[in-house]
Amino acid sequence: MSEVLIVERIGAVERLTINRPDALNALNTAVRAALKSAFERITADESIRAVILTGAGEKAFVAGADIKEMANIGPREAEARSRATKTVHDAIARCPKPVIAAINGFALGGGFELALACDIRIAADNARLGLPEVKLAILPGGGGTARLSNLVGPAIARALCLSGDLISAERAFQLGIVTELAPKELLDEVVLKKAETLAALSPVALAQIKSVLDIAANADLDSALAAEAKAFALCFAAEDQKEGMAAFIEKRPARFTGR
Ligand code: CAA
Repeated sequence: MSEVLIVERIGAVERLTINRPDALNALNTAVRAALKSAFERITADESIRAVILTGAGEKAFVAGADIKEMANIGPREAEARSRATKTVHDAIARCPKPVIAAINGFALGGGFELALACDIRIAADNARLGLPEVKLAILPGGGGTARLSNLVGPAIARALCLSGDLISAERAFQLGIVTELAPKELLDEVVLKKAETLAALSPVALAQIKSVLDIAANADLDSALAAEAKAFALCFAAEDQKEGMAAFIEKRPARFTGR
């Protein structure tokens, strides 16, 4: 059996490719487990400084949770799956390195939700995104209702969740769901360039920024600003801050070590 997750290293960038192209990379139990353990490993590996997540084949990033695996389960198993999906998304969100979703085709249901758990979404111009769960008489059970509302506001989230309509990459870009579009044939190149740029930045600053943005999304303003002040202070305890500012003053590129 071929591996469900292809892992590649390109310098300090790790690329993870969900590899079930015949099922449009649908998320089954094996893919979820592989993703969770990959992000746990990446979190602990200092040599990895940015991550790309994409799907194999020409058609899809991920076309959702595996409907065939789910068709006959009951409510208890459904809840367990929703919780298991959350642990994958948590592993991505808590990974201190920036994670870019390279959306190379359909990003539907659980696939859209997986992309929403990433830090940055870059889409091929022919990609299509949506939460079509309602058409299966279920709902987005992998954080889609909350994450999409946080990202684009309740009106758009309601329209997409309740209709199950798919939107074009261009529309997703207009809504701020994806931050960059690339011609299909250039997507890998554009995403790798972005990942390499992020990988050259300070791992200390990137980790603090991720953490503070997560707090800001969930806390009241005072708590968020208090967390921001602490993270700001923490950066000044690291060699990277001294290096970053010295490099600016000396008009040379900075070399960040994560120390
Ligand atoms: N689960 C399992 N298999 C899937 C799948 C999925 N989510 N999406 C596609 N496939 C399989 C198809 O069954 C088909 O397999 P067979 O060749 O064995 O029949 C293969 O992938 C190719 O798919 P299609 O023939 O359907 O390709 P298409 O180009 O005609 O259509 C598509 C593409 C519009 C994406 C269509 O496949 C589709 O609608 N897929 C389902 C999308 C969906 O409903 N996703 C939400 C799933 S539920 C969910 O994600 C719950 C959650 O919140 C966690």
